[in-house]
Amino acid sequence: MTDLSEQARTILQGNDRGGYTVPTHRLYPFQWNWDSAFVAMGWATFDEARGFTEVERLLEGQWDNGLVPQIVFHAPSDDYFPGPAVWGVDHKPPTSGITQPPVLASAVRHMLDHSQDRAAAEARVAAIYPRLLAYHRWWQLARDPYGSGLVSTLHPWETGMDNSPAWDAALARVPVTTTTPVQRRDLTHVDATMRPRAEEYQRFIHLVDLFRDVGWQAEKMLAESPFRVADIATNSILLRAERDLLVLAQRFGQAGETSEIAARIERMHSAIDGLWDTRLGLFHSLDLVADSPIRVATSAGLLPLYAGAADASRAAVMTATLQRWAGQVHYLVPSTAPDDSHFDALRYWRGPVWVVVNWMIAQGAADAGQSSLAANLRRGTLHMITNGGFGEYFDPRDGRGIGGQDFSWTAAIYLLLN
Ligand code: DGY
Repeated sequence: MTDLSEQARTILQGNDRGGYTVPTHRLYPFQWNWDSAFVAMGWATFDEARGFTEVERLLEGQWDNGLVPQIVFHAPSDDYFPGPAVWGVDHKPPTSGITQPPVLASAVRHMLDHSQDRAAAEARVAAIYPRLLAYHRWWQLARDPYGSGLVSTLHPWETGMDNSPAWDAALARVPVTTTTPVQRRDLTHVDATMRPRAEEYQRFIHLVDLFRDVGWQAEKMLAESPFRVADIATNSILLRAERDLLVLAQRFGQAGETSEIAARIERMHSAIDGLWDTRLGLFHSLDLVADSPIRVATSAGLLPLYAGAADASRAAVMTATLQRWAGQVHYLVPSTAPDDSHFDALRYWRGPVWVVVNWMIAQGAADAGQSSLAANLRRGTLHMITNGGFGEYFDPRDGRGIGGQDFSWTAAIYLLLN
């Protein structure tokens, strides 16, 4: 084992709070949904049982209606805002009231497929599978009740790409909060140039106020949210997760479940197909309130590769798009196109490289037959972590690790790529 693999394991162990892993010390002191999916796979590279425990602990936060929340507040901490009191959700353990990109079923399938102790893994997955099915049914019922094939996300935090320039116009329609005083605890841990701006936070919190005031009722949230987008990343990740859930259903499911999942896959695949953007050379999201495409080139628009929703010619165009970006920054994949006027190399989802996105694009590129792109992305990502450290995200100009440090999902991706 290399020193860096050892370091990656030590980071996961250091961020372990008893069966769940915080993304990093202080900045994020609870369990986050999509972080945990990647982190579970990272754990499973050296402790398969612990990988499944990560998922089980996240599912302690699952609601009766199937929602797997964005955050599970297992233990109190003053280091983060907004905490459980702002969310006002009635659940034990306390949780936030929105979700995050649903990588979970894909992580569970990955751990099963790579398990050495197959019998032990199968026993864990048999118990987890019905919870995953309930989560995917929640996405369908709560976020695509008319079966368009695209699920809605109602908060930039749900997309996981909080301050992406893709959300600027949609977020500008959201009022700033007048109810909850915003406390930027994040700025006591990370430099303000690397975090979302004050006004974005005020709008983020307005949405929380609004959803809390309708009692977190799914239909009301969908009907009343001034922010409603069909995020290309969330939809691609869900489509990939549905494909993985289908494989699990064939082994662990009840009659009718495989056809139910297959029908969702077909609908999603054809809806995502309609989001191809010839001008951008990648896929776009939709603003469902304005009823218009969001024509901003971001790394999210490459994720249909990961979903298996890009045919060979589109995969080739996306590879060319990435080659163009590679001529403008040192490290791929910047979260916003480097030639976009919104590109900001340091500010969270407006420019930095996120290794979980690299990993998903590399997986998709390999599946789509773009093997040299996959190899380049994997090599580049390892190189960046080796030189830049285990940061939360990376400056695409020099590969410096920025944001939170000793970051769990970066450690997990390092382990997965080795
Ligand atoms: C944060 O608080 O910065 C997170 O991205 C929310 O999930």
